[in-house]
Amino acid sequence: MRRDRYTTPAIVLHWLIAAAILFQMQLPWRFHDLKTPEAFALIQLHKSVGITILVLSLARLGWRIANPPPPEPATLAVWELWLSRVVHWGLYALMIGMPITGWIMVSTSKTGIPTVLWGLIPWPHVPGLAELPAAGKALWNGAAHETHETLGWGFYILIGLHVAGALKHQLFSRDEPVLHRMAPGALAGRWLEPRLLLIALGVAVAIGGAWLIHPRPPASAPLPPPPAQIAEPAAAPAAPATTPAPAADAPEAPIEASKWTVSKGSAIGFSSSWGGQALEGRFDQWTADIVFSPDALDRSHVKVIIDLASVATGDPQRDAALPGADFFDVATHPKAIFTADRFEAAGGDRYVARGKLSLRGVTKPVRLPFTLKIDGDKARMSGVTTLDRTAFGVGQGEWQATDQIPAQVKVSVQLTATR
Ligand code: HEM
Ligand code: HEM
Repeated sequence: MRRDRYTTPAIVLHWLIAAAILFQMQLPWRFHDLKTPEAFALIQLHKSVGITILVLSLARLGWRIANPPPPEPATLAVWELWLSRVVHWGLYALMIGMPITGWIMVSTSKTGIPTVLWGLIPWPHVPGLAELPAAGKALWNGAAHETHETLGWGFYILIGLHVAGALKHQLFSRDEPVLHRMAPGALAGRWLEPRLLLIALGVAVAIGGAWLIHPRPPASAPLPPPPAQIAEPAAAPAAPATTPAPAADAPEAPIEASKWTVSKGSAIGFSSSWGGQALEGRFDQWTADIVFSPDALDRSHVKVIIDLASVATGDPQRDAALPGADFFDVATHPKAIFTADRFEAAGGDRYVARGKLSLRGVTKPVRLPFTLKIDGDKARMSGVTTLDRTAFGVGQGEWQATDQIPAQVKVSVQLTATR
């Protein structure tokens, strides 16, 4: 018996891919040019749906090559035959070209956010592209973005022609069972064809769903405790390791400040917000070189070196973006360095450190008030200060604006140390 319809796998894939594409095409209208946590989550969703479309479309194409479609109804005009073929192959080109240009775009983006399909399956960047120097990446990224956008408009045109063709044969021709080929049983010429109504419902659900869905924004949950070993002991001793007792016969001998080794459980963190949602972060790799005594403030000094790539905010995709050029730019400035050698007593166990912070190539004075409790050879220090991220260039381009991420970032230091 000669087939007069597509095979079942072809039909299932057709409707699945069609629904996914109609859904997918709505998302950019929602995330376009926005820097909110929701837009971020919608882009991650757009990437997952897009790569899924790529995989399904390649499967569909492979199946089609192995299982050619049934011959078209003999009554079709030659122009209709050719137009439908051009549109079908154009649609295949877009079903594969759109995801590939999107994939190139995210693989060459400055932020380097990884793609994790459906939040579960890591998907690599296009091999070779993510490793290019910045200028090469920018070139590819620009071209891929232009193409992705142009092909997107092409999709609107081809889907319009495709659906118009299907509807023409379904609604205005009695003897051309075209819809039947993709929706078996559809009776040509029947306006209230149940299969057509079902398709219309599916289209409405796919499009409406894309406007109603609210994917989970990046986590703002508390971070797990810092890794056991955060700080290595300072490399070179900057001062004698112990405080020598002043000799009785030499009262003018200066008191030396003690050298401290930071213990585990110490943390350097920051808090900010994104789109009104609180955001807590931490650096997991840093070293601190501390020489300090309350009774030798003039000989006390501190140097903290933070490995900015170790930033953790509880969302792997956001954490992958923060070291990028738009934020910390670790490729050029891998470390932030805080040095202080002026300390003031502020009464009781309160002190103020005055020093400078070098971050992202900018050095600015920083004042860090802190409390310090010394108990024998153990000390507990806790300090909080506020920095203006924009003064250091953390947040470039559209991230410079402070409507989504405020300029002021609270930085907190909690240390325990032993002498
Ligand atoms: C929106 C995304 C859509 C895409 C990307 C798409 C893609 C395609 C492609 C590539 C084919 C050719 C299959 C082949 O020959 O291997 C096809 C066939 C077909 N599509 Fe779609 N389609 C979409 C939506 C629709 C809708 C909404 C309808 C119905 C209103 C529809 C009805 C049909 C029909 C009837 C055929 C069979 C045409 C024939 O060979 O006579 N499609 N579609
Ligand atoms: C069939 C699949 C896809 C369709 C129909 C599609 C469609 C679109 C459309 C229409 C836009 C708006 C273009 C603009 O005005 O800038 C867009 C933007 C975007 N797409 Fe896709 N896309 C697909 C797959 C992908 C994939 C697989 C990825 C990444 C893995 C991706 C990543 C992006 C990104 C990052 C943007 C935002 C560009 C920007 O404005 O910054 N897309 N997509």
